[in-house]
Amino acid sequence: MVDMTVDIGDLTLKNPVMPGSGTMAEGLGQVMDLSRLGAIVTKTITPDIREGCPPPRVVEYKDATLMAIGIPCKGPDYYVETIVPFYRPYDAPLVCSVSAPTVDGFGKLTAHLSVEGVAAIEANVSCPNLEKDGKAFSMDADATEKAIRRMKEATDRPVWAKLTPNVTDIAAVAQAAQAGGADALTVANGLLGMAVDVENFRPALGNVTGGMTGPALKPIILRMAHQVARAVEIPIIGCGGIVSAEDAIEYMMVGCSAVQVGTINFVHPTAMLDIVDGIEAFCRRKGIERVRDLTGAMRERHGPTEEQVA
Ligand SMILES: Cc1cc2nc3c(=O)[nH]c(=O)nc-3n(C[C@H](O)[C@H](O)[C@H](O)COP(=O)(O)O)c2cc1C
Repeated sequence: MVDMTVDIGDLTLKNPVMPGSGTMAEGLGQVMDLSRLGAIVTKTITPDIREGCPPPRVVEYKDATLMAIGIPCKGPDYYVETIVPFYRPYDAPLVCSVSAPTVDGFGKLTAHLSVEGVAAIEANVSCPNLEKDGKAFSMDADATEKAIRRMKEATDRPVWAKLTPNVTDIAAVAQAAQAGGADALTVANGLLGMAVDVENFRPALGNVTGGMTGPALKPIILRMAHQVARAVEIPIIGCGGIVSAEDAIEYMMVGCSAVQVGTINFVHPTAMLDIVDGIEAFCRRKGIERVRDLTGAMRERHGPTEEQVA
């Protein structure tokens, strides 16, 4: 038996696998037992009702997807009244993802969603900061720290900060989120990209640019998770291009305590369960009794080989 539990701060998860925000919805419960997930993460919730970006919102590109959804949202009351109660019967902690255009907005929304049935709040700090220059909060270390600090003041729930990869020094932003009191970091959101519909001489996405997600993203975000792991003490949740147990294990080996799985959920809705089973099988094969021992288990490139260590 492998002990599959992991700790994300004070929160113990039964295994390290959960969905990336916006990549699962209530309907997934019809094809899999949601109680088998390490956690359930909601679509990002915004203070106001939003329609989202104009179509097309998703464009496929080789081993990646480009998406500009624009966070359509029915508002926080809908989540408190409908979505949180929907997930209550499942034996998996519910994480509410939130986003707001101001530091104060992050605080108020966090307080609003700190209701029974919500185990943690994840800050999607990839949204524009309207008090400053309109750039994403997490492109700016200071704004990230302020938003997370305000959230921590507003709730007794753990606060996770989901960072944007669209920065030159993600470790600096990670340290700022930690300084603001983040209990964990999710690394990361989609990488900014675009595509052109050449037949029609137009941008392929309604929003022109969007987040690139999917398998092609993994080497880049894995590198970022590695950099962040060396810069902070708090737990890291790796997210970017994970489609298999091996991908998830790579993230754990560079220092992540858990992983979020996104785009593959649309292709293969039970992928998360295969990933849980695959991680467990790997641990058994390698004689690893606790999955948490995979965190940071990557050895130095020029150190002894596995046979020499054994
Ligand atoms: C259709 C779609 C919707 C998404 N919506 C959100 C969202 O609401 N909030 C958020 O933080 N990330 C959102 N994401 C980003 C994912 O949570 C994840 O960070 C990203 O897809 C990278 O993981 P992946 O390569 O496994 O897909 C969305 C991604 C997709 C594909």
